[in-house]
Amino acid sequence: MSNAGDVEFGTEIGPALGAPLSDLALDQMFRAARTRYAWRDKPVPEILIRAAYDLAKMGPTSVNCSPARFVFIGTPAAKEKLRPLLNAGNVEKTMTAPWTVIFAVDHAFYDKLPVLFPHSPDMKNRMSSPDTARDHGERNGTLQAAYFMLAARALGLDCGPMSGFDRAGVDAAFFAGNEETQNWRSNFLCNIGYGTDEKMNPRLPRLEFDDSCRIL
Ligand SMILES: Cc1cc2nc3c(=O)[nH]c(=O)nc-3n(C[C@H](O)[C@H](O)[C@H](O)COP(=O)(O)O)c2cc1C
Repeated sequence: MSNAGDVEFGTEIGPALGAPLSDLALDQMFRAARTRYAWRDKPVPEILIRAAYDLAKMGPTSVNCSPARFVFIGTPAAKEKLRPLLNAGNVEKTMTAPWTVIFAVDHAFYDKLPVLFPHSPDMKNRMSSPDTARDHGERNGTLQAAYFMLAARALGLDCGPMSGFDRAGVDAAFFAGNEETQNWRSNFLCNIGYGTDEKMNPRLPRLEFDDSCRIL
């Protein structure tokens, strides 16, 4: 059980919407979850990847713009295409992971607003200036990537996020020259699988509430 002052969270209040999740669930998603660098030899079926997406897509984004795009790399051929674009330290963990996802952002996400935000027909125009599109795309695309990682953890999977790669190279190799993906830009990568403790260092400290929060 975790405590914040005299308020207890993570207790088993009973299965009901709106109740805190169990301590076990909170451990799995946050307290015991670690970034993984090595993987059990256990496949992750595509249906689990789809299930994680179906949870993550429900996370909120501004004007429901949903700018994140996800490229799930599970075949040896696609992994080989990624290999030369990875920083040296990220190669082995990526090549051995059951899946690697490219979290990308569609910088023309506003084209889908007539469907995603239909009650405000003008929103597509309001979002389409370059500065506004970049601002909303990056903020919400990153949020959605985080939603995906937490969704994956909720389904029992482990994640290994990585920013050590050649972004322009990934965009050129995976997105350029295709009308559907030409406005997608890579944000970061994430290995997905069932992790082992191999190559993992002890947990690093986190900032305490008083170090990073203010209550006004
Ligand atoms: C966006 C992002 C990029 C990262 N990039 C790399 C990377 O390129 N290579 C790597 O080995 N670890 C990378 N990490 C892993 C972090 O160092 C790790 O998540 C952090 O130290 C917390 O570790 P913990 O989850 O085990 O507590 C990255 C993490 C995030 C969230």
